[in-house]
Amino acid sequence: DQVTALIVAAGSGTRMGGDTAKQYRPLAGKPLLRHAVEALIGHPRISAVRVVIGQGQEDLASAALAGLDVGAFVIGGAERADSVRAGLEAIGRGVVLVHDAARPFCPPEVVDRLLDALGKADGAVPVLPVADTLAKGDSELRGTVNRTQLLRIQTPQAFHLEDLRYAYDEAGSSAPTDESTVMQHAGLKVATVAGDEILHKLTSPRDWERAEMMLAARMI
Ligand code: CTP
Ligand code: MG
Repeated sequence: DQVTALIVAAGSGTRMGGDTAKQYRPLAGKPLLRHAVEALIGHPRISAVRVVIGQGQEDLASAALAGLDVGAFVIGGAERADSVRAGLEAIGRGVVLVHDAARPFCPPEVVDRLLDALGKADGAVPVLPVADTLAKGDSELRGTVNRTQLLRIQTPQAFHLEDLRYAYDEAGSSAPTDESTVMQHAGLKVATVAGDEILHKLTSPRDWERAEMMLAARMI
């Protein structure tokens, strides 16, 4: 099967702040988006990488990805789900690995686990257990939630393209935050594989600082 990595990078990085959207900002000297692409593009089981970018960001994206073979950019939409939908229309058959540009590091073993698990399910996602106690509440606590049955879901997420297209069609115009949600709503089976802390998404300035420190300390 042809395996295409679809990296969504059409967000505005509001929570990160700053003048330039986070995906184009250098993390230890290299744009965040470039880290994400480089983490997948050399994998022996990935045949192609495509990138979904925001309208008008072609120059930023071209500069960030100079010299890398990512084909033509796809133009995304207002919500992440719109960007994924646009990407799915632009690629062919086979398997898709949907991945966030905001996750700069992806161990190759995670990709192997995902593709292996796809043999027995309609999709596969990397997950981690929850370490903190979880509760409902606002200014006061309103009940602890049993965390033993809860999972944190990361990307990349692997699917047969036809299944994911079907699931997004079923989802109509809703804007789920990830593909595992769309797949489950459509009644499709999503397997879990072990995720990795290193796949952490850079959302806030704190995440950014931690990633830069880890790179400086050669922990990545
Ligand atoms: N994304 C996208 N299209 C959108 C929104 C998000 O392609 N309309 C992408 C982002 O570029 C990112 C990934 O989805 O790689 C995960 O989103 P998130 O971390 O929330 O990034 P942003 O939406 O850019 O950040 P924020 O929500 O803080 O504005
Ligand atoms: Mg967002």
